[in-house]
Amino acid sequence: WLERLAMEEKLVKKRIVLVPVPAQGHVTPIMQLGNALHLKGFSITVVQTQNNRVSHSKDFSDFQFLTIPDSLTESDLKSLGPLMFMIKLNQICEASFKQCLGQLLKEQSNVDDIACVVYDEYMYFSEAAAKEFQLPSVVFSTTNATAFVCRSVIAKVNAEKFLIDMKDPEMQDQVFPGLDPLRYKDLPTSAFGPVESILKIYSETVNVRSASAVIINSASCLESSSLAWLQQELHVPVYPIGPLHIAASAPSSLLEEDRSCIEWLKKQKPSSVIYISLGSLALMETKDMLEMAQGLSNSNQPFLWVIRPGSIPASEWTESLPEEFDKLVSERGYIVKWAPQMEVLKHPAVGGFWSHCGWNSTLESLGEGVPMICRPFSGDQRVNARYLENVWRIGVQLEGKLEKGIVERAVKRLIVDEEGAEMRKRAIDLKEKLETSARSGGSSLEDFIDSLKMENSI
Ligand code: UDX
Repeated sequence: WLERLAMEEKLVKKRIVLVPVPAQGHVTPIMQLGNALHLKGFSITVVQTQNNRVSHSKDFSDFQFLTIPDSLTESDLKSLGPLMFMIKLNQICEASFKQCLGQLLKEQSNVDDIACVVYDEYMYFSEAAAKEFQLPSVVFSTTNATAFVCRSVIAKVNAEKFLIDMKDPEMQDQVFPGLDPLRYKDLPTSAFGPVESILKIYSETVNVRSASAVIINSASCLESSSLAWLQQELHVPVYPIGPLHIAASAPSSLLEEDRSCIEWLKKQKPSSVIYISLGSLALMETKDMLEMAQGLSNSNQPFLWVIRPGSIPASEWTESLPEEFDKLVSERGYIVKWAPQMEVLKHPAVGGFWSHCGWNSTLESLGEGVPMICRPFSGDQRVNARYLENVWRIGVQLEGKLEKGIVERAVKRLIVDEEGAEMRKRAIDLKEKLETSARSGGSSLEDFIDSLKMENSI
């Protein structure tokens, strides 16, 4: 036990530096990881850029927060699009992060050694600084393993041929070689920017450089073959450490949550409500929103709808909804600007989740056994939607034009029909598998933490 005590003593001296992408879908899992590591005795430093910072709330009062200048604004994000924004952010932050890390090392006492730098895969500038100061580094993939595999495959294909194939309508429904069941149209290549910038950033994110390990917010019961592929290709240990929200949830919402919807949910029948949320980035066209409103109205099911201010271009909030919709909302709906999503998904009244299939939303729904209507917008969301429908078989994917009849039918399939009940059973099975995996070490979070405790082992 003396040895163990010595190790524990050593452990409290260790600090982990976390570098999150300044966006909700990335901040959430990295703060969960920070919480999991903190619970195991590590000290945590979060290095943030100026945009979208996690507040230094009481929940993270033991964490150290440092800010590096990035000279980019919200309007740069809008004009550049997320991928070009990330490329620019990486160019700008490399020097300032080196300076920040250098300062931290100067100030640190012997009792607070830095064990390693864990950076979001899209903050790849971090690697150079870690290398300069000879600190171990770990790449954190906040999307799933299959999306990582896709990016690796795309980064290696002949770019010219790939671009031609991607534009060919006849290729869209064909399975992409080696990525079954993903079709060309499911690949994470869309909407966030020009294809050239997508190819550039993908080759950066899959290049694990001199990192010592890759950690992924996923579990082997969800994506065993993609994880095995990565383990073989990357030549560094790959730890599926998720779902992190089960291991260590952390309140890291960048927007204010409207908890009044929980009171509304309490008045609804079990498994009757369709919860609708499109995450923190997706934008919805006004015509799609109107079709959704009419479809929801015709479905006769209660609904809880998150409409994020600014998510409908040219509208502040809900002005574009027809007036008669107000009556329907008062009778059997509830609209909020931002919900406490994990609490909503846990609520017994929720029977289904209409989602853009962001990876966090997908994991949160899987973790509560809630089947989904999948309407992906961009990036990895199409991969997640395809897996939800075809691999885990707990989702209905809506492709093509959104029409009120399609919305009505999808809601009924999920909430009312036998098909939905079957999906719910499978979703509950998967929830149990995930819980068992998290409890029994099927998740590699403990292995990863052990590797951090061992000197020089990562
Ligand atoms: C983005 C990408 O879209 C996603 O595909 C990628 O995997 C991560 O980055 P985002 O679009 O915001 O994230 O979606 P998602 O990954 O689902 O993350 C949204 C987070 O916001 C979830 O943790 C969810 O619980 C939270 N949320 C969402 C709320 O707390 N309240 C809400 O009303 C809506």
